[in-house]
Amino acid sequence: MTKPFKKIAVVGTGTLGAQIAMLASNAGYDVTIFDRQTGAFDAMMKKLHSELTAKQGEPFIPFDQWPACRQQIKEVEKLDEAVKDADLVIEAVPENLELKRDVFRQLGQLMSPDAILATNSSSIPVSHIEKSSARPERCLNLHFYMALYGMNMADVMGGSRTLPEVVDKGIRWVRSLGCIPLTVKKELLGFCFNRVWRAIKREVLYMWANDFVDFRDIDRAWMKFTGREDRYGPFGLMDSVGLDVIYDIEMVYYRNSKDPKDQPPEALKQKIDRGELGVKTGKGFYSYPDPEYLRDDFLSTKD
Ligand SMILES: NC(=O)c1ccc[n+]([C@@H]2O[C@H](COP(=O)([O-])OP(=O)(O)OC[C@H]3O[C@@H](n4cnc5c(N)ncnc54)[C@H](O)[C@@H]3O)[C@@H](O)[C@H]2O)c1
Repeated sequence: MTKPFKKIAVVGTGTLGAQIAMLASNAGYDVTIFDRQTGAFDAMMKKLHSELTAKQGEPFIPFDQWPACRQQIKEVEKLDEAVKDADLVIEAVPENLELKRDVFRQLGQLMSPDAILATNSSSIPVSHIEKSSARPERCLNLHFYMALYGMNMADVMGGSRTLPEVVDKGIRWVRSLGCIPLTVKKELLGFCFNRVWRAIKREVLYMWANDFVDFRDIDRAWMKFTGREDRYGPFGLMDSVGLDVIYDIEMVYYRNSKDPKDQPPEALKQKIDRGELGVKTGKGFYSYPDPEYLRDDFLSTKD
């Protein structure tokens, strides 16, 4: 497969940025990373290693290949150094519209004029931020899922002025990483599968927050329904993503629609205020590192 790019820069190397950098390095791209917090990448890889070890054994990129991938990734302390020679820059900074606009503005000034700029945002269509980059025709959404956990796919979507060849390169790049491109033909809030996942989240949070059901029963049913008894249901998955991230994403939908049904429940906000952010703080809907859904009796039919 011919590679659409040579050099990739990843800006923001938390949960998603770190995985994207690993995917790109694993596929043989020159990868440079920048995070405003020095050492963020290695700290995240350590965390992902222990979570993946506890959860599922071998990840999408086998553990024994991690050191070689890491060695090929160049970490720099200045944003301009990271992006100046890159053919594709993908940002994975936190889900905040103003922050994304500011990062797009800075990147637009620092990148080479021909380079492509992508956002890994979970909920913001690139048309909402493309203008600040001053290169809207070379911007797109490339929304990756948790590839190291086996969700090797990414939504690919252009903005209001994205050139077809830019979308095409995005699709080819996603494929070259060993991921499935989920192409969105015209701009849609939530992209392809993320919109489906969002509908599920909204519904299950409503059922939990209004005390209709025990959230564990939703996860049990989901695990049976999907045949993934070794994993988790929507609540376990939200814990893994981070409840603060989930909340921010829901707020993007709410601000967009202004429909009260889209407002994330107050009970979720309260959990976040108590520091219950999911796996990353040791408590979310479940407690970690030994969540109930991984125990043998979680799906037991015995009294
Ligand atoms: N967590 C998920 O499951 C998930 C899935 C798909 C997409 N996303 C999206 O990916 C993006 C990142 O989410 P995440 O969960 O990886 O967040 P995270 O909080 O784990 O990581 C964000 C990283 O960005 C860094 N950062 C913050 N401001 C920065 C700046 N100005 N310049 C450079 N680095 C900066 C932080 O230090 C941190 O390391 C968001 O847009 C989110 O919606 C997240």
